[in-house]
Amino acid sequence: MNIEVWRGDITTLGVDAIVNAANNSLLGGGGVDGAIHRAAGPELLAACRELGGCDTGDAKATPGFDLPARWVIHTVGPVWYGGDQGEPELLASCYRRSLEVADEIGGRTVAFPAISTGVYAYPKAAAADVAVAALRSADRSVESVTLVGFDEATVATYEAALRAP
Ligand code: AR6
Repeated sequence: MNIEVWRGDITTLGVDAIVNAANNSLLGGGGVDGAIHRAAGPELLAACRELGGCDTGDAKATPGFDLPARWVIHTVGPVWYGGDQGEPELLASCYRRSLEVADEIGGRTVAFPAISTGVYAYPKAAAADVAVAALRSADRSVESVTLVGFDEATVATYEAALRAP
């Protein structure tokens, strides 16, 4: 699997699927979740209502509606409580489950935001290490993953994580 790093707004990417850093309700919020709902249009919220929420570490797909991406894979990252509440395992699960869902819907190109590193306060460098390790160990048919950094600091954490052996 090819892993690239890109800086910008994930809602502009014409990949098969973009991943949303959502909350357990899947009914929208701020950050990347708010941006995705705004760009996809109101049909996305209607589709999310049908899903009945999502557990932390799990992922569920909807169409992308007005987005250039065909699908949105909604995942729920852990809130950071200091790191001994299962946060790394739950964050890794978000990446693994998102790739499994991408596989199920036939997605070959997938873009991820930096799940949990905004409102949920997961430290950025540690989150990048978890993301890269989870993606590298995944055995999935997804061909290309784009790790999207909204800011330069996040991009730098991905580049550092990818340089590590
Ligand atoms: N494109 C790419 N990345 C973005 C964008 C964008 N348009 N906008 C923000 N980011 P956050 P979380 C980055 O807070 O920590 C929501 O209210 C942002 O800079 O969106 O998982 C949900 O409903 C940061 O690096 O997600 C949940 O309640 C990263 O996306 C809660 O926030 C994640 O920040 C989830 O919190």
